[in-house]
Amino acid sequence: MADPHVKLYPAHVQERQTKAEAALAATGFDALVIQSGVPFTYYSDDQDAPFKTTPHFAHWVPLEGPQHLLCIRAGKKPLLVRVKPEDYWYEQTPIGAPFWLPEFDFKEVPDEAAAWKEVGVQTNAAYLGDTPAAAQKQGIAAACCNPSALVARLDWDRARKSAYEIACMDEASKLGGRGHLAARGAFLEGKSELEIHQQYLLGVGCLEKELPYESIVALDAHGATLHYTGKRTQRNGRVLLIDCGAKFQGYASDITRTWAGRGIERAFAEIHKGLDLVQLELCKMVKPGLPYLAIHEAAHEKIADLLKHAGVIKLGGKEAVEAGLTHPFFPHGVGHFLGLQVHDIGGRQKAPEGGTIPPPPQYPYLRTTRTIEEGQVFTIEPGVYFIEMLLRPHREGPKKELFDWELIKFLFAHGGVRIEDNLLVTKEGHRNLTRPHI
Ligand code: GLY
Ligand code: MN
Ligand code: MN
Repeated sequence: MADPHVKLYPAHVQERQTKAEAALAATGFDALVIQSGVPFTYYSDDQDAPFKTTPHFAHWVPLEGPQHLLCIRAGKKPLLVRVKPEDYWYEQTPIGAPFWLPEFDFKEVPDEAAAWKEVGVQTNAAYLGDTPAAAQKQGIAAACCNPSALVARLDWDRARKSAYEIACMDEASKLGGRGHLAARGAFLEGKSELEIHQQYLLGVGCLEKELPYESIVALDAHGATLHYTGKRTQRNGRVLLIDCGAKFQGYASDITRTWAGRGIERAFAEIHKGLDLVQLELCKMVKPGLPYLAIHEAAHEKIADLLKHAGVIKLGGKEAVEAGLTHPFFPHGVGHFLGLQVHDIGGRQKAPEGGTIPPPPQYPYLRTTRTIEEGQVFTIEPGVYFIEMLLRPHREGPKKELFDWELIKFLFAHGGVRIEDNLLVTKEGHRNLTRPHI
């Protein structure tokens, strides 16, 4: 039987076409040209940064590589022009017969100029991509390059995942789960961050550059640097905080697990166990109609109770949050939209036309302020960390008596705990894409 995403793909493209036609009509354009991206070459070097496809292009088709053009017009089959240079330095794989091919009028050309020629002069076209100058050379006005009114509508639509996208994200979670199981095994054998990272890649079966983001593999105190990417070679950590995802057809999973070995502080063990329960309780809240902010606020209150119970702070619940006691321990948002991008676009968008719902001033790092709706996919990732830099001001501050500094001194060595799952919002509630796998 074919993979589930394959049979769902034609409807996904049809939906993109319908949405694009509506967005073009609403913003006064007749055609849309999307470029897959261009390589970024480092200054004074002949090396490129790893290539990342423009997400607007990836939303239509999982064709890798730079310079490809996609042209969309009302009532016409989308035109896809692949740039495939004649090349003996880098591999240029033959197109073969990928599942997505029948949905396009497909052309293959050797260079960018030929790709634009295939697209031809489109009257009243909008361009999306990172080389507006190239589009302007083709006669597309500067004001029609990445026009904000059109981009806002397309960004808005990206938040609601199609059945095809959900199938891809299910697979990305499954692959991530395999990597996490392999990584946990390596940690329990006393392996180093570098070795755990290598086991993760083997578990997923991918290259490092194919990961959706740079893996965070943090033993002990390294877990207190939220995006730690050092991958050092010391072995036999007591705690592993591992935040690694996987990709399938361009779609990401973003999964964090924390594993504790022998010799950890009793209070840390309690926080470790307790945060898993907190995370599950937060997941249970997820359903259409709830503002995402309510989950973030609940996370702070539940973390306050957990810290109080473990003896780290002296107040719990709302009282602790209002006193600002949870901020140094939980200094990031409880989650973000997920999809083609790890921090997918549109989490703070107000309406299809654009606008922003800013986070409350006390939570400036919260990436998601929208109301929860069916079809959204986002992470739920509460954390508790022991970060010297954030706790230092409280040590001599007016509320210093509300912390157990002796205990905190021991907890610094443990870094932190984060548990992160990927959730799909359904009609009635949600489906956890991650827990079936790890
Ligand atoms: N992996 C980065 C994050 O969880 O947002
Ligand atoms: Mn995340
Ligand atoms: Mn993560």
